[in-house]
Amino acid sequence: MNNFENLIPLPSSITPMKGITFVTPNGITPLVYAPSFFYDELVFVCHHLSEAGFKCAPAPKDTDPDNLPPNCVIQVEEEPDLPMAEMYQLRVTSSFIQIRASDSSGAFYAFETLRQLALSSRKGRLPGISIIDNPATSWRGLMLDTSRHFFPVSFIKKILDTMAFHKLNRFHWHLTDDQGWRLYIPSLPELTEKGGWRHDTKTTWEDVKIGGFYTEEDITEVVKYARERHIIVIPEIDVPGHASAILTAYPELGCTGGPYEVEDRFGIFKEVLCAGNDRVFDVLKTIFEQVCKVFPGPYIHIGGDECPKERWDNCPKCKKRMKDEHIASSTQLQAWFTSKVANIVQSLGKTPIGWDEVLDGTEVFGLPENMIVQSWQSSERGVIAAKRGLQTIMSPMTDGCYLDYSPINDPAEPGRLGLCTVKNSYDYTPIPSSFDSKMSEKVLGGQANFWTEGTPYSRVVEYLLFPRLCAISESLWLPSYQKDFASFAKRLPAHKKRLKKLDILFYDGPLE
Ligand code: ACM
Ligand code: ZN
Repeated sequence: MNNFENLIPLPSSITPMKGITFVTPNGITPLVYAPSFFYDELVFVCHHLSEAGFKCAPAPKDTDPDNLPPNCVIQVEEEPDLPMAEMYQLRVTSSFIQIRASDSSGAFYAFETLRQLALSSRKGRLPGISIIDNPATSWRGLMLDTSRHFFPVSFIKKILDTMAFHKLNRFHWHLTDDQGWRLYIPSLPELTEKGGWRHDTKTTWEDVKIGGFYTEEDITEVVKYARERHIIVIPEIDVPGHASAILTAYPELGCTGGPYEVEDRFGIFKEVLCAGNDRVFDVLKTIFEQVCKVFPGPYIHIGGDECPKERWDNCPKCKKRMKDEHIASSTQLQAWFTSKVANIVQSLGKTPIGWDEVLDGTEVFGLPENMIVQSWQSSERGVIAAKRGLQTIMSPMTDGCYLDYSPINDPAEPGRLGLCTVKNSYDYTPIPSSFDSKMSEKVLGGQANFWTEGTPYSRVVEYLLFPRLCAISESLWLPSYQKDFASFAKRLPAHKKRLKKLDILFYDGPLE
C-alpha cells in the first residue's frame, strides 16, 4: 500500500514521484514568488515552512514571473480555471516547486501540505510529488468549550495552528455557559467580573475562585491569528439555557430573580433566561453588538441546547408572554425565543447558528430561513433540518464527533461520558449516504466538538483531541468513497512524529 508521503488529510489526488527529491542547492535560500492574490501571505508561509525545516523566503515584489531569477524556485500562480474553492495543484520536482491555486485558501493549503512534507524530510529537502487537491466540504470545524475550563490565548493559538495543519477552517468558540462567562462586554462588566469566576471545590479548598475571561485585545489577537490561517472564528453565546453565569451577574434576567451562582457542578441546570422579560432581549442585543465589534466573521452561534422548561412553566412573566403571543407550550416558547434572538443577530448582518434543539417547537413560529442548524444529538437531527430546507453542520455525538469522550474503553485513560475511538471519528461522514445531491448541498460540512468538564489542563485537551481530530480532518476533506481506514492507520505513525515535532500531545493507544 502506498503511504502517500503520510499526508493527513490525504489529498484527493496524489502521485508521489519515486526517486525524485527537491534538494536546496548549497548556499542558497530558495525564494518564493507569488502574484498579488497571495503576496501578502508569503512572509507568513515562508516563516512556517522555514520552521518546519525547509528554509525559504519571499521573492521581491517586482520579480518578473516570466523571468524568475535562478534562486526563485517556488512559484505560486493564481489559476481561476481550477473549478473548486480552496483548490490547489502542487508539483515538487528535483529543481522546482509549482503551486497553482483557485484562491488564496488553496495556495495556503498547498503550503500546509509542504509543511507536513518538510516536517518529515531532511532539512532543505522535499519529496517529489504531484497533487491536485480540494476539500469535499466547505465547513471543517472544531468547537472548544472555554467555559467549563478557561484556557489562555496561547492555547487557543496552538489549537488554531494545529487546525490549519489539518486544513480545518472553522473555529467555534464556546464562550459562555453555566460555569463561566468568558467574553468581556464593556457596557456589562459584571458578566466577566462576577460571571467569569467560580468557587471550584474540586480543585481548591479555600475561598479561591477559578476562571478568567478574554479581553477585546485577546479576541482581536485570536481573530487575526485565525485569519492568517484561513480560519473563521464563530463565537457562541449560548442562550437561553446554560445561563448560570450571566444570571449570577444580572439576576434580574432570570425567572425567579435569584440569587444565582456560577456553577461548579457540571450538568444541565433549571435556571435559564426569562423569556417573559423584555430586558433579556435588550441585554442580548448589547452583547451581540459587542460580539459583532470584535468578531468580523459572518456567523454567530446562539446555542439553544439543553434548556429545561421548569422555570418558564412556573413564571408569571413567561406565562404572560405565552398568552400574549398565542404560544401553546414552553417548547414553543423556546422556538419563539430562538426567532427573537436570531432576528437580533440577523439585524446586525450576521448569520445565526443554533444547536439542533432550535428545531423543537417550531411548528408555529418556524425558524428564520437562513438559520444554520448544528446537529449534535444525532445526525438524524441534521437530516430533519436539511429536509426542512435549512443548512446544517453535522457534529453528532453518536458518530465520532465528541472528542472529549474516551478514545478507548480503559479506566486508565481520560475522557468522559462515552466512547469514541479513532476509527469512529474516521468512519464519520458528514453527508448521510441517503442524501441525493440536492439534499447534500444543505450540509455545509461537519465539526468535532470538545467539551471541557473533564479537562482542566490543556495538555489533556491535546491528548484527547489527537489523533481523533486528524481522523476527522480526513472525514471532512475527502469524499467518503475515497476514505480508507487501513491507509489512514498506515500513515498515522509518521504523522504522529510531526505532531511530536510541533509539541502536540496525543493519545497513542489502539485505534479501535
Ligand atoms: C451539546 O452537546 N450540549 C451541544
Ligand atoms: Zn420567566
